[in-house]
Amino acid sequence: INHLTPKTRREILELLVNGLKRLEYRGYDSAGVAVDAADFKDIAVVKRSGKVAALEELLQERSVELAVEECVDSHCGIAHTRWATHGEPSAVNSHPQRSGEDNAFVVIHNGIITNYKEVKTFLENKGYVFESQTDTEAIAKLIHHIYNQHKDYSFQELAEQVIQQLEGAFALCFKSRHFPNECVATRRGSPLLVGIKTRRRLSSDHVPIMYTNNKATRGVVPSVPRVNSHAHFEPEEERDVEYFFASDASAVIEHTNRVLYFEDDDVAHVKDGVLSIHRLSGSSNDPHEREIFTLKLELQQIMKGNYEYFMQKEIFEQPESIVNTMRGRLNFANGTVTLGGIKDYIPEIKRCRRLMLIGCGTSYHSAVATRQLLEELTELPVMVELASDFLDRNTPVFRDDVCFFISQSGETADTLMALRYCKRHGALIVGITNTVGSSICRESHCGVHINAGPEIGVASTKAYTSQFVSLVMFALVISEDRISLQKRRADIIAGLHELDSKIRQVLALDAEVKALAEDLYRQRSLLIMGRGYNFATCLEGALKVKELTYMHSEGIMAGELKHGPLALIDDSMPVMMIVMRDPVYTKCMNALQQVTARQGRPIVVCEEGDKETMSLASRVLEIPKTVDCLQGVLTVIPMQLLAFHIAVLRGCNVDCPRNLAKSVTVE
Ligand code: G6P
Repeated sequence: INHLTPKTRREILELLVNGLKRLEYRGYDSAGVAVDAADFKDIAVVKRSGKVAALEELLQERSVELAVEECVDSHCGIAHTRWATHGEPSAVNSHPQRSGEDNAFVVIHNGIITNYKEVKTFLENKGYVFESQTDTEAIAKLIHHIYNQHKDYSFQELAEQVIQQLEGAFALCFKSRHFPNECVATRRGSPLLVGIKTRRRLSSDHVPIMYTNNKATRGVVPSVPRVNSHAHFEPEEERDVEYFFASDASAVIEHTNRVLYFEDDDVAHVKDGVLSIHRLSGSSNDPHEREIFTLKLELQQIMKGNYEYFMQKEIFEQPESIVNTMRGRLNFANGTVTLGGIKDYIPEIKRCRRLMLIGCGTSYHSAVATRQLLEELTELPVMVELASDFLDRNTPVFRDDVCFFISQSGETADTLMALRYCKRHGALIVGITNTVGSSICRESHCGVHINAGPEIGVASTKAYTSQFVSLVMFALVISEDRISLQKRRADIIAGLHELDSKIRQVLALDAEVKALAEDLYRQRSLLIMGRGYNFATCLEGALKVKELTYMHSEGIMAGELKHGPLALIDDSMPVMMIVMRDPVYTKCMNALQQVTARQGRPIVVCEEGDKETMSLASRVLEIPKTVDCLQGVLTVIPMQLLAFHIAVLRGCNVDCPRNLAKSVTVE
């Protein structure tokens, strides 16, 4: 903050902690904050393992020592909520990490430093003693080491030196006793933005970039660079401004909707109310400025409203979120579909050799769910890939491939690495994301925003159904001029038109699903079987159960039942089967019979009124019928509800399952 309105230290701490609460869905095993101590000569670091609420209590306990009632008109504070990579969750491993006991430099970090051992050994040889098991501590000590050698450097020059020594992924925010009220933030691989709050409208939407003619060679001991440019961003009333650096916009939206996204290796420096962005100089066509965007995100979209859990809210939002996905794109009256974000690339896509759909977790499942329709409507070979495995295999990719990267957050490291790999191989890159301004979004040639609205629950729900619908729309766009497919397309478009009301019907089964959860929640395992268009629902349902309830669950391709899983079946193994009246109905019925013949007692998800199928079931959930290729949108919803209710009954943390994070920005 800078002069906007003088704040008490209590307000500053509240502001930091509230920001952390908004980001908690990204990681939540420990949290910490650093602010200037009462006399501004020291930095107070307060941190603790556990959730942000635990940190809040600790801050309360230490409020006298922190002089929380003191008023300041200029201040820089940093705060962090952690998802452990190196080192178990504990107070000492929490961030901020420090350069030494005097807190000369403190840093918070999102990402992984892959060469930290090398840096650590170098610093240990210089006499630094490490207290944590984190990779981040090496960064705090490295900046201190460089400072000791170059006392005349600015804060940002020090940070520039540091990042030249680092390998891996990071978004970093530094604070220092030597640079009171200043903040330096930088990124490579992990997301970082800054929210800018000014009293008056900004006079410019662009922040110039300052290039440093720094030829410092890599190696742990840096050479001496100098900066000599004066480009920076000055708000109209200089100093009358607040800057909020954060990993994503949800942490800043309650303060401002004016946001600038940093690119890899940008080093942002705030001093005396002025933001400047520095980079090491590259080629002559490097950009000269970064744009400040106005976000449409509303605070209320990231609040729970009347629901007890974010996940529950997001499940029940699906009738609206899928409509938002289709809004302005699908014209139901004349049966046309327009995807503005890929419009110009359609001819190129139609000429391609194959489509590749790449993602992780739930996003991968949306690719599995729509593959068959894409094959049918595009008449192209379609590969569906888990990003991590795709990279492990060094999969051959060609210039005439079209690669889709599906990601709710747009930041998943595995998916982003796969994107860069495909881009290097010359393929066309299509991003399917829910986060405007995310890395995947910015690095794609073209794409589709799924417009599901912010998803906070760690377990993805509404993003899945919106990804599903987006991919269906893509298939419709590509097949627009295929005469032989017109009837099929019309059926699908009609199906999409009434999908929201059918989702509402499925959501009305909530009480029934809850009753089912009451029967199942003490079980150790749950098998979920299906095939064809509904196989993805089995995978996604099992993932939801696993991540939310910590129960073992497996999605089984019904065609594979006889090749192994059948051995698991007896009268006590909980098994669900999805049996719809689609082209694989008879085959599903065979599987169902194989289960009942082994005394299995299947819980069947089938079409409304399908008596024949119900006769083989021990319990039934009846779902409205829609077009076969859209049925998966409806069958996945009872799975989401089931996992949710089981999690509540088992006393699990629904929105923040143990060990998981919403946005996994490490490989
Ligand atoms: C994490 C989340 C999952 C998500 C996956 C992919 O593992 O916990 O819910 O499906 O990442 O995330 P993305 O943001 O790329 O869709």
